[in-house]
Amino acid sequence: MVDPSVNERVAQLRKELHYHNYRYHVLDAPVISDAQYDNLMRELREMEAHYPTLVTPDSPTQRVGAAPAEGFAEVAHPVPLLSLDNVFNADELAAWCRRTQQLLERDSFEMVCELKVDGLAVALTYEGGRLVRGATRGDGLRGEDVTLNLRTIRSIPLALHAASQPERFEVRGEVYFPRAGFQKLNEERVAAGEPPYANPRNTAAGSLRQLDPRITAARALDIYVYALGYAEGGPMPDNHWETMAHLREMGFRTNPASAICQNLTEVEAYFQRWLHDKERLDYGVDGVVVKVNRLDYQQHLGVVGREPRWAVAYKFPAIQQVTRLISIGINVGRTGTLNPFAVLEPVNIGGATVKMATLHNEDDIRRKDLRIGDWVVVERAGEVIPQVVAPLASRRTGEEQEFRMPQRCPACGEPVLRPPGEAMTYCLNNGCPAQFSRLLMHFVSRGAMDVEGMGEKLALAFIDAGLVKEVADIYAITREQLLALERMGEKSADNLMGAIAASRSRPLASVLYALGIRHVDRIRDASEADLAEVPGIGPKIAQSIAAHFQREVNRRVLDRLEQAGVGLAEVAAPKEGRGTPLAGLHLVVTGRLSALSRSQAEDRIKELGGSAGSSVTKKTAYLVVGEDAGSKLAQAQKLGIPILSEEQFVRLLESGVAGLGQV
Ligand code: IVH
Repeated sequence: MVDPSVNERVAQLRKELHYHNYRYHVLDAPVISDAQYDNLMRELREMEAHYPTLVTPDSPTQRVGAAPAEGFAEVAHPVPLLSLDNVFNADELAAWCRRTQQLLERDSFEMVCELKVDGLAVALTYEGGRLVRGATRGDGLRGEDVTLNLRTIRSIPLALHAASQPERFEVRGEVYFPRAGFQKLNEERVAAGEPPYANPRNTAAGSLRQLDPRITAARALDIYVYALGYAEGGPMPDNHWETMAHLREMGFRTNPASAICQNLTEVEAYFQRWLHDKERLDYGVDGVVVKVNRLDYQQHLGVVGREPRWAVAYKFPAIQQVTRLISIGINVGRTGTLNPFAVLEPVNIGGATVKMATLHNEDDIRRKDLRIGDWVVVERAGEVIPQVVAPLASRRTGEEQEFRMPQRCPACGEPVLRPPGEAMTYCLNNGCPAQFSRLLMHFVSRGAMDVEGMGEKLALAFIDAGLVKEVADIYAITREQLLALERMGEKSADNLMGAIAASRSRPLASVLYALGIRHVDRIRDASEADLAEVPGIGPKIAQSIAAHFQREVNRRVLDRLEQAGVGLAEVAAPKEGRGTPLAGLHLVVTGRLSALSRSQAEDRIKELGGSAGSSVTKKTAYLVVGEDAGSKLAQAQKLGIPILSEEQFVRLLESGVAGLGQV
């Protein structure tokens, strides 16, 4: 006999765990920490291990870990799972509404709008408040018994906590893969060298049909319940909206985005709102389901074939389409990157014709196993550049060809290089015309030299007319040369001359950015706090800057910019802000200085944008040593930190960064 106090404790633990599970997974409002939850779970597991007779199927410990099943048993659905008729625009929706009005013989009827979650439908059967079976939709009449797998979904209650519930009933809902979890799963797969899954919906379906529930359990699926299938024994509300509220009270997870609408204007507003906001959700939705609220009206409207007349799916414009990958082109970016892109058979996706899509880089093409000639799934979500999601491998004929990165730059014919450890391949030729036009456009863009009114068209016109071969050439352009360009009036020419002149005084940081040195963009964009975290400059960036200026042509560009009056002098004349020569550098002063006190020295360092501290670490950029320096000097020598004498330090203070080269 098991001690009654053990029985009591086990029951208590289960009750608490069910409750916290519900708070966490259904309400998104946990009241205890994860660690506290884990402790309760551990205690229950230990007790059940001790007293195996106490284990029940609805115990929270039983969600995971049951042995793999032998395939799935078939399940007949007592009430068929229906599908929905689709409408694709406001006119079609209005037609549905008119027909409904006629059938109901009334002008208005209340509707419930819900998001059409893109997952897979399941039916959950409860008896005496316990989950006894969970099945897939299958063909609507017969599905598969995936109870063990559904039990691993934390937001599906195993035992209900409401007192009043029908003796036997079935709820229906959509199981889906939350985007964040899906992305994490794919990252893990890629890290393990496995191909990523193409989309959350199919992966959710595949996960539910795993023979081993432990795999399902590891997939972090979730559910929104959207209907009551049937209910025996116990009163239920007489409309859909209240039914959902009741299910929520019983412990089911319902979608908070649902709304009651009185007319088509309200339905349309709901549709537009979610069309706009759907990307913010952590799950995919492909439309809005509009349902007649009153259940007696639903009854009256009935079902035709497999589709109820009391509900309709108002679909969002498709964001994915299948089309042909005709070829893979290469764009040369301004830093010389070879950017592959997909040339597609034109296809309409959500109202826009898509002919091209980004392919990121060589590895990405390989990872997706895209071949030229493939039928591919293309996605265009909101403002995002169209993406090639996956190939349809089953439609291959054997004629498809694998992609190879060219060995030479398609624009200039010079050899290209893919540095070890990098995903991108580069054209190293600074004279590359494709690279140069991008560089010029970047050079004059906002945030760089910001030459107002000089867009892509003018940049290309300058290059075509032979006016600009290097970025510095824009400062040599004359008014006459501008006027000789097609469609250039006097006023535009004057404005442009003014804009070019104004760009001479951009801060040094903008000039560096404008020059498009690889990796430097990040310095420019980093906040002061980011920079302060990194005393000095990392080896990669340092190397990139050094390599850039080792090249004669780049040095010349800088010389010529200086001659043209571009404000490079800021290096030697630090003011506040980004131009400060010691910005991001951490210095330590030790020992006795003769010309100034230690705190004066530290103040000067701070004025120049640096920070001063007292302990020498790997992050220290320089140690300034006066007389009688002690352990800090030894520490700096051990760590290989550069040492400045007082004389060198004073020179640095006087001449800014320029002095650093001579120390
Ligand atoms: S109601 C008539 N409500 O859409 C009852 N279905 O095309 C039909 N779905 O198989 C279901 N979200 O998998 C309903 N809020 C929602 C839904 C929804 C997604 C799916 C469900 C169904 C399919 C019908």
